[in-house]
Amino acid sequence: MSVSSIHKAWQFDPATIYLNHGSFGPSPAVVQNARQAWTLQLERQPMDFFVRRMEGYLEAASARLGQFVSADAADLCFVDNATTAMNVVAESTLLNEGDEVLLTDHEYGAVMRIWRRACERRGARIVVARLPDPLISQEAIVDAVFAASTPRTRIIVVSHVTSPTAVILPVEQICRRARAKGIAVCIDGPHAVAMVPVDLRKIDCDYYCASGHKWLCGPFGSGFLYVSRRRQSSIVPPVISWGGSVSGRPFRWQDELNWLGTRDPAPFLAIPAAIDFLESYGVDEFRRQTHAMASAARRRIADLTGLAPFTPDSAAWFGSMATCPLPDGESPPPGRRDPLQNQLWERHRIEIPVVHWHGRRLLRVSCHLYTTAEHIDLLMEALRTAL
Ligand SMILES: Cc1ncc(COP(=O)(O)O)c(C=O)c1O
Repeated sequence: MSVSSIHKAWQFDPATIYLNHGSFGPSPAVVQNARQAWTLQLERQPMDFFVRRMEGYLEAASARLGQFVSADAADLCFVDNATTAMNVVAESTLLNEGDEVLLTDHEYGAVMRIWRRACERRGARIVVARLPDPLISQEAIVDAVFAASTPRTRIIVVSHVTSPTAVILPVEQICRRARAKGIAVCIDGPHAVAMVPVDLRKIDCDYYCASGHKWLCGPFGSGFLYVSRRRQSSIVPPVISWGGSVSGRPFRWQDELNWLGTRDPAPFLAIPAAIDFLESYGVDEFRRQTHAMASAARRRIADLTGLAPFTPDSAAWFGSMATCPLPDGESPPPGRRDPLQNQLWERHRIEIPVVHWHGRRLLRVSCHLYTTAEHIDLLMEALRTAL
């Protein structure tokens, strides 16, 4: 499909201007069809599907995913989402009293909660590294992370692309320095997969948690967990089931996670269709186009508000999603949205998140292949009225 017709690959509610792919990324029709075809195949002969064929299908899907993220299929396992993957890592990390888990102050709220709970249960402690503000040097980010490490640091948990601020963090450098100190690293990567090149062999982290249903455009409920060889033997599943291969082949670490009781693996098996979709358009072209659009939106919003973004205007710092500071406003009560976010939806049918972070009010714009210049014009018009 061409640049001008690619948006037709999605079946959107035409009344909605969807600028929140970063939270919930809808998949194109071809991916939804692939998912449905897998479910149909399962429904036609469940015994044959689950017991004789499913493990082979999962291996083939992992191999395709492995090509995309430069990992061996033997080190990948499908899970429902990045949240599940992160819970598995927290459960599998041996923490003793007094140990420390180091996170940055840009981490996702649910991830902080997962590790807070893991620490509370084992007498360990959370340490939060405050990253420089503004972010202008990757070395300074790495230094800020390690300035907060101590001999008790067991694991560093860091986003590849952050959620509130949409910043690409230097995960490869963080892993290199952590390895030298004998500290494990878990990368929270749901936004990075597809948005930026992910090369797991080069990054060489201990764990990588991701969701396929964000920038990769996989079906909802398609996530994965990468575990390095050095950690696979200590993986603990989130749900205890048979703990072995359903087809009776010798045990692999993924078996504990592949069979969490009976469930439809169609979202995982449709991930190759999502990769095919992006590759047929051109992954580099997808990155170039969506970054250019996010960058232009960021500039226009900064011109409107007069507030400088926190990173340089470069694809080294953000990809298809950009966060822009907004004039201050009161933080809404827990569970409620910012009034501006409600207003943009109710009056203008624009879905875009307004995030409160460190006492700052931020607007996060997501651009995918279905985003058009007209969508950004409409956002700007709405913001001009609202601000
Ligand atoms: C950085 C980050 N980590 C983890 C998650 C959780 O992803 P999921 O809801 O797909 O598990 C999100 C979701 O937006 C996120 O932004």
